[in-house]
Amino acid sequence: MAKPLRSKRHAGESGVETVRARERLETVPNSGPQQMIEEIRQLPTLPSVLTQVLQTIQDPEASALDLSRYIAADQVLSAAVLRLVNSAYYGFHRQISSVTTAVVILGFVEIRNLVLAATAFEALGKAGPGGRRSNLWRHSLASAIAAQRCARMMKHPPEGGHFVGGLLHDLGKVVFDVVYPKQYESVAESAAEEGESIRAAELRAFGMDHIEAGAILAEHWDLPNSVVEAIRFHHDPAMAPTERKLCSLTAYANYLAYAAGMGDQGNGREPVFPAEAVLFLDVSPRQQEQLGEDIADIGGPINELLGALSGEA
Ligand SMILES: [Fe+2]
Ligand SMILES: [Fe+2]
Repeated sequence: MAKPLRSKRHAGESGVETVRARERLETVPNSGPQQMIEEIRQLPTLPSVLTQVLQTIQDPEASALDLSRYIAADQVLSAAVLRLVNSAYYGFHRQISSVTTAVVILGFVEIRNLVLAATAFEALGKAGPGGRRSNLWRHSLASAIAAQRCARMMKHPPEGGHFVGGLLHDLGKVVFDVVYPKQYESVAESAAEEGESIRAAELRAFGMDHIEAGAILAEHWDLPNSVVEAIRFHHDPAMAPTERKLCSLTAYANYLAYAAGMGDQGNGREPVFPAEAVLFLDVSPRQQEQLGEDIADIGGPINELLGALSGEA
């Protein structure tokens, strides 16, 4: 059923006029991809500690002490990691007060995930007016956890980058919201009015959609190719040149997060079940049901993680 148009009203010279979001969008000054690419390249880079952490995790010789030394050298980051580890999401009975203990208890991969979440949030998490940015991060965290749980259920190797793919798949939406917050609001409204996909509305407004914007930033941040592919192909995992499994998992996690009410697509439509990805991953109907129930229960813990990321916990 068609959704009612949500028109904006403002007082014009000849009285009250109705201006639809699509018309307002046509006045957006930035309409070419080149300008957007320039804007993305000017966004903050990720701190070098993240590169060190990513390298340490890939080094089979590295110890928990090596990893915690890098993290501890960055006070803001170590504080964020400790807040996350001590949040109700993990539910440890005693306070964990050192990064080394956290690495020993949670393991390299989990700590890498937390470091990435903390650094990405530090770079782009500061929300402007309205709750859109925190909704985007809520959806991202829910997708990350859904991807991790699905990977565990399907017995994929734990270091497969599932959490990271889920966390960053919609990075491009955060990019638009950081660079052009007002216009991005109109993009979402326009998509809802036109009953079109958010990607089509983004393309019209910015000359690129969020998968491209996110992939460009991930490349600019020097993130591994698997992460760039998870971002670029989360809506078309079968097109992924080398990481089809990860991209399919990200697509399914994205759906699970939406289906559990964490995030909205911005165009008022129901999420589309990624049938091809689920078939490729070979998730049985019983497993799908189990995952759906699991993810429906993580709203509270995700709010805890978000609070810890923004320094409120
Ligand atoms: Fe997306
Ligand atoms: Fe998403």
